[in-house]
Amino acid sequence: MIGIFDSGVGGLTVLSALKKRLPSVDVVYFGDTKHAPYGGKSREELTTLTIEAIRILAREKATSILSACNSVSASLAVSLFDAMALPPERLIEMVGPTVAHFRESSERVLLCATEATIRSEVYQNAFRMIGKEVHMLALPALAGAIERGVSREEIESIIRSGFEGIDTNAYDTVVLACTHYPLVQDVFKDVLGSSLSVYDPAEAVALRVERQWWPRETGNGEMRFLISEDSPIFRETVARFFPDTAVRIEVLE
Ligand code: DGL
Repeated sequence: MIGIFDSGVGGLTVLSALKKRLPSVDVVYFGDTKHAPYGGKSREELTTLTIEAIRILAREKATSILSACNSVSASLAVSLFDAMALPPERLIEMVGPTVAHFRESSERVLLCATEATIRSEVYQNAFRMIGKEVHMLALPALAGAIERGVSREEIESIIRSGFEGIDTNAYDTVVLACTHYPLVQDVFKDVLGSSLSVYDPAEAVALRVERQWWPRETGNGEMRFLISEDSPIFRETVARFFPDTAVRIEVLE
């Protein structure tokens, strides 16, 4: 059983890509809606929340962990060893598969992410390792706005003001390095026009799961959802992604 976690609805974009690729996977998903958004939190806070998320998933019998949250990537190494005896090959996170996707590419990359992700420098370091320069753009209000389910106009205005002063001609690709952002990918495309491509790493992460954990994680296609605080937006987003599936959403006490 694969345990997936994120601050809230963002990781559902990764779960959806995973389910398309591997429908028979069994998944328990934890959305930490009570503490969302994560992007403005300190490294210490994120480490504590990451340990708690991994503990919850381990309690639910997850044997592999997929972190569908870029903001906690820097906290994962310590959390793994502190929270559970999980060997490194039982963890997949966002940064590795995202950066590996650009290994052979000559695209000029602008990476949009939360402040926590940018501050941690995990992407800057990983791109440096493949000999590629990357520019970062923080969109501090965006994940929280998506989590609250604000209007399309509000989302558009956050994205527009984030890109103010950015020379979009200097890039070929915008990477959505926060799992919430693909939920508003069409707004990104409208704001940026057709000269830039918009890249959602979810598919690369799903492929990594297949290569690393298949067929070991083959199951019956079951999905369970746990959230730390009830959220109508979370329930709606699950229903939108998985309309034909009977799913259980439990609110943790
Ligand atoms: N979706 C997460 C990420 O990929 C967290 C965003 C947030 O809660 O601020 O970074």
